[in-house]
Amino acid sequence: MIENKNIVLCVTGSIAAYKSIYLASSLVKENANVQVIMTEAALEFVGEASFSGITHNPVITGYYDRKSKLGIDHIDIAKKADLIVVAPATANSIAKIALGISSEPIVGTILASKAPVLIAPAMDGDMYNSTQVQNNLKVLENLSVKISGPEKGRLASGIEEFGRMTEPDKLLSEIEKIFSKKKDYNNIKAIVTAGGTIEEIDPVRFISNKSSGKMGIAIAEALRDRGAKVTLIHGNLSDNSIIGVEKISIKSAEDMTNEIQNRVNYFDLIIMSAAVADYKIKNKFNQKIKKEDISHLELERNPDILKSIDGSKIIKVGFAAETENLIENAKKKLSTKDCKLIVANDITLPGSGFGSDENKATLVHNKGCEDLPLMKKSELAHKILDKTKSFIK
Ligand code: PMT
Repeated sequence: MIENKNIVLCVTGSIAAYKSIYLASSLVKENANVQVIMTEAALEFVGEASFSGITHNPVITGYYDRKSKLGIDHIDIAKKADLIVVAPATANSIAKIALGISSEPIVGTILASKAPVLIAPAMDGDMYNSTQVQNNLKVLENLSVKISGPEKGRLASGIEEFGRMTEPDKLLSEIEKIFSKKKDYNNIKAIVTAGGTIEEIDPVRFISNKSSGKMGIAIAEALRDRGAKVTLIHGNLSDNSIIGVEKISIKSAEDMTNEIQNRVNYFDLIIMSAAVADYKIKNKFNQKIKKEDISHLELERNPDILKSIDGSKIIKVGFAAETENLIENAKKKLSTKDCKLIVANDITLPGSGFGSDENKATLVHNKGCEDLPLMKKSELAHKILDKTKSFIK
């Protein structure tokens, strides 16, 4: 997918700059033509020779460092670029890109290019959370710059926070996605649900499930990347860093029902991968119940959200999380919930279902069943969208 693509890799001054050597190497292995531009600060962390050795291209380190045939490096590089990647992107470089301060060749190249831009922020967690950095990232988002990460983890300062640069392998797959991106969901407004709901018993205890929200997030990201306007209505998520979609956080199945019912008439598609509790506590306790007083809990049914939506107005895609009789149960859900498609997954399979990065599913629809192998949830999300597309007029 990235073979022969001209990828400009911009490296700015962060400890994470060492990861960009691996990224450059991975891109070259995929036969991309990689042109590296480094800031002076980046040179304090990693050497120019590492990049020129890997990419077989001279590294640009300043405006007056003429190495291209045209002698105007950044313009030459900008015009040829298929993609510009800024990794790591420091708070300083993010601010300069947002404001167009072209005092060094990275920003000059971005300004002079029509190529998409992907940035991977890396910095201290409090810096990342600062109003200035968040505002600058919003400016970049509005300029259609794609932002990857940062991820949560141990930072150089020793704290555990969001600030780690996205790992090179993940960046590589995001770069591949940019080149493979279809825009077949342009003008589609989609609701995606993700994560598990919570049914409170008392102020301390609750009933929930093992959903991490990874499947729903993968679907929301795939829809976003294919041009849809996405509203993600979610319970607990293991990673809340998804951007470029409207996010609505809910607790209970009732909250989810209300948020969906308020919007459903204005949307074209709903994909429900959330694990919604079928029951709630009949009379939730306002005070913590003493353990000796819990002998039994009275439950009452939650509404079936998918079933309650009128399927003539919106395309409905549901999931079926099963431990037995996968296809039989999925077919029942297809008809009782009036869905166009049910994504059936056997949640007992190892490395699949709840919490994992991969999933194995069968697409069940009116014309039959399509059994898919175990694959990344991000890949499965695209398969689901490829199928769903056939139901959208
Ligand atoms: O979140 P992850 O950790 O990535 O895990 C992914 C997953 C296993 C949660 C996901 O792949 C999945 O199977 N999601 C559906 C879970 C579920 O609740 O399945 P179900 O068979 O109980 O429900 C069938 C469908 O009806 C689902 O689309 C569900 O969202 C919906 N539903 C369920 C109950 C309810 N009251 N209203 C509903 O609309």
